[in-house]
Amino acid sequence: MNSEKTAPVADQNSNLRPDGSKKVVLSGIRSTGNLHLGNYYGALQKFVKMQDDYDSRYFIADLHALTTNPDPKALHESVKQILAEYLAAGLDPDKNILYVQSDIPEISEMYLLMNMHVGIGELMRTASFKDKARKALGITSESDEIEKEIIGNQNNNARVNAGLLTYPTLMAVDILIHHADYVPVGKDQEQHLELTRRFGRRFNSFYGVDYFKEPVNFNFGGEAIKVPGLDGSGKMGKSEGNCIYLIDDEKTLRKKVMRAVTDAGPTEPNSPVSQPVENLFTLMDLVSGKDTTDHFRQAYADCSIRYGDLKKQLAEDMLKVTLPIRQRILDIRDNDEYLSKIVKQGAERTREYAAKTLKDVREIMGIRKI
Ligand code: TRP
Repeated sequence: MNSEKTAPVADQNSNLRPDGSKKVVLSGIRSTGNLHLGNYYGALQKFVKMQDDYDSRYFIADLHALTTNPDPKALHESVKQILAEYLAAGLDPDKNILYVQSDIPEISEMYLLMNMHVGIGELMRTASFKDKARKALGITSESDEIEKEIIGNQNNNARVNAGLLTYPTLMAVDILIHHADYVPVGKDQEQHLELTRRFGRRFNSFYGVDYFKEPVNFNFGGEAIKVPGLDGSGKMGKSEGNCIYLIDDEKTLRKKVMRAVTDAGPTEPNSPVSQPVENLFTLMDLVSGKDTTDHFRQAYADCSIRYGDLKKQLAEDMLKVTLPIRQRILDIRDNDEYLSKIVKQGAERTREYAAKTLKDVREIMGIRKI
C-alpha cells in the first residue's frame, strides 16, 4: 500500500502475552460457496496448526458474504458447509471458539461506530474494492474510471453497494473486537490487515487512548502462501473458476487436474518455465513435497517431462489431502444438531469478549448513559 511502512511481523518465539495469557488468534472465511485448496493452504491449515498453542477463535464471515448479494438459501447452505469444512479439516471445537459472524450483534454495532473514523477515500483505494467495483461496473481497464462511473451514473446506484465499500471496516472490527494478536490469512488479505492496524491507531490517537493493539499476520516463519489456480493464471479463487474444492469427488478432481493449462513443452534444455507450468510445480510443492517436484523440475530441465505424468502425480497427491477431508465433511454436514450446538457455544463465548470491547468503545467515544 502506498506510503505504508512495511507490515510488522509476528514474534513467533512465544505464544504468550507479557501477562502470561495465551495470545489471541482470530481469523475468518467468507461464506460464499465451498472451500478450495487455496483456502486450505492459505488459511485452514494454519488455523489447525495454531489451535493447540493459542487462544484461537475462527468464524464464518456471513455478513461479509452479503456484500455480493448472495441468494439467501445459498448463503445459509454455505455457512453450514463451511462450518462442516472447518471441522472436517481438523478444527477442534473444544480447542477453538467457532462462531458465525452474524450471531454477534456487537460486531454490527461496533462496525457502525468504527465507520465514523474511516475515510471513504482510503476505502475506495483498497485493491479488493477496486477489483470488485470494476467487475460490477464492467470496467476492464486499470484506469481510474471507477469514481466517475459510481458517482456520475445513476444506473450504477445499487451495483456497487456501501457494504462492499466498508468491507475493510467490518473486517477491522472482526479483529479489533477480540484484541487479536495474530490473524492468519493469505497474501491477498494483507492490505485489509494494514487497514485494520491503521484504523486502530487512528482510534487510539483520536481519543488519546492506548486501547487497540496492532494485529499481525502469521505464517509460521515463511511468507504468506499464494496458491495458484489450474488455469495458468494467478491465484486459485472461486470467481476465477480454477479451483479444486475440498468437497470434489475423485473423478471431478482428476478431470480438473488433467485439464489444467500447460504449454507446448520445453524444446531446449534448461528453458525458462512458463507461468502455467510453474503453477503446477507450486501446487505440487504443496501437496506432494519437494522431492517429487524436484523430480519433475529435473525432467523439465532435460526435456523429458510429460505433462500427463506430472498431472497424474499431482492429482494423486491432491486426493491424498482432500479425500479424507471430503469424507468427514459428508459425515457431519447434515448433522444440524451437532453443528448448531457448536456455533451456539461459540457465539456465547464470543459475545462475552465482544460485549466487553463494545462497552469500552462506546464509553471512549462518549456514548454514555444519562
Ligand atoms: N476478508 C477475508 C477473506 O475474504 C475474510 C475475513 C473477514 C477475515 N473478516 C476477517 C479474515 C477477519 C481474517 C480476520 O478471506
